[in-house]
Amino acid sequence: MSDSPVITASGGTLTAERVRHKPASKTVNPLRIGLQTERNPQACAMVIFGVSGDLTSRKLMPALYDLYVSVPLPPGFSIVGISRRDWSDDEFRSVMRDAVRENATRPFTDDAWGSFARGLFYVRGDFDNPELYGQLRERLETVDSERGTNGNHLYYLATPPSFYEEISAGLGNAGLVKRQEIYSNPRANGWDRIVIEKPFGHDLASAQHLNAAINAVFAEPQIYRIDHYLGKETVQNVLAFRFANILFEPVWNRHYVDQIQVTVAESLGIENRAAYYEEAGALRDMVQSHMLQLLSVVAMEPPAFFNGDALRDEKVKVLRSVVPPDGDRVAKDVVRGQYSDGYVAGTEVVGYREEDGVDPDSRTETFVSLKLEIDNWRWNGVPFYLRTGKRLPRRVTEIAIQFKSVPHLMFKLTEGQTLPPNVLTMRIQPDEGISLRVAAKVPGAGTKLQPVQMDFDYGASFGQAGPDAYVRLLLDAMLGDPTLFARDDEIDTAWSLMQPILDVWADQPSTMPIPTYEAGTWGPAEAELLLANDRRTWRRP
Ligand code: BG6
Repeated sequence: MSDSPVITASGGTLTAERVRHKPASKTVNPLRIGLQTERNPQACAMVIFGVSGDLTSRKLMPALYDLYVSVPLPPGFSIVGISRRDWSDDEFRSVMRDAVRENATRPFTDDAWGSFARGLFYVRGDFDNPELYGQLRERLETVDSERGTNGNHLYYLATPPSFYEEISAGLGNAGLVKRQEIYSNPRANGWDRIVIEKPFGHDLASAQHLNAAINAVFAEPQIYRIDHYLGKETVQNVLAFRFANILFEPVWNRHYVDQIQVTVAESLGIENRAAYYEEAGALRDMVQSHMLQLLSVVAMEPPAFFNGDALRDEKVKVLRSVVPPDGDRVAKDVVRGQYSDGYVAGTEVVGYREEDGVDPDSRTETFVSLKLEIDNWRWNGVPFYLRTGKRLPRRVTEIAIQFKSVPHLMFKLTEGQTLPPNVLTMRIQPDEGISLRVAAKVPGAGTKLQPVQMDFDYGASFGQAGPDAYVRLLLDAMLGDPTLFARDDEIDTAWSLMQPILDVWADQPSTMPIPTYEAGTWGPAEAELLLANDRRTWRRP
């Protein structure tokens, strides 16, 4: 029997015979591969605008400390924080120390903190004041020469989106951005990149405007638009699952798949974010970004390479094939809802309109479900049902691929028995893993069939949880790898799918009620009808 070739990391092949004779190597935990030494970035200064905010304390600073300790980042790695608070460098360090102690995953030690904190600096200022950028330039010149960051700057906008354009222009006007086409030798001159948090725009027009404004200062390859869902291990694993296994691609199409359901359910309400959420709503907050990212990784064609252009080209291609849910389709295929008071996990919670800072007549949706169709050879006729909401019964994000039933069942089912079709469920969070529901014979003398689960569980297989999405994404931005960030055309295409829905909703009279759902339930009754009209039902994850 001939040996089947095994593809190696360098793209070559090894036969099983050669594999057997390879010297035994140390077992590598696959979850740590992204953090191995070949992914060491150059020393750089990261400038965080809006450093006094929640995002910095909960996510950025802990992730940077984790990277500093575990990759490790070069000793010269520095952070310049900017906000309106009147802090000295030492006060800034002390606030960040608490944040890291509380939220970092890596053990906190005084030694590691001391060395990390020596690279922390603070500049006070208003983002709309040109003087701020002059001060920043001076600070960066000092950091570059004293700490060896050599003109490598990563600007991170952790501010409200209304400041994005102003900050980018401020950096440009102060000569703080070396545009890539002009300074084409980053090794000699250093590099400048900008990382932008979502939401990127409020609608199609504002996103296009923002893209143009930022592109006027930074070249597209210097712009890193974060969608933290792409940094999640389990989302990247959808790619591994689809494109590193031979088994699934042949059935990943309209011939075998009946429907795909994507659920991003949250039990939380809007927490303290009323001002933002009132303007955003679930469609902008979750569907335009995270859910369309999930849809594109599930539905795209296989890219030839795992790199920024190849992957993002395929994602854009599939998004462009989605039929825009416009005109009458909005009433038929899109459901919005708002939670009223109720119980979530046994705790009584108030309705959305009673939340602090929310307009008592608010028409902002906290739930959306919709049906999308993809007009291409692979997916024609397969509905993609998406739903997301706040104050649902539990937190769960999953992608469920429901296959068609077998064309002919030779087994006789008992009266009233049905055999549910195969379902492949990718659990993005929590209980990260993948399950396949298959039919099996119940042990016994008869031939009774029953569905059973074949399970892959991250915890059991790898023995540890993956790093936080920000750890991966921040490292990628430092390394200059844009693969897991959204490109301008991707953002545009995602907005162009949402815009018709926003337009129809904006035209509806304010007297037209928005469906409500009791907190702690799976959304309004209309969401059930959306599937019932297609003779289908939502999964209860
Ligand atoms: C953010 C949204 O982008 O994602 C929040 O603004 C939402 O409203 C959050 O709660 C969900 O992220 P995760 O990682 O908890 O699923």
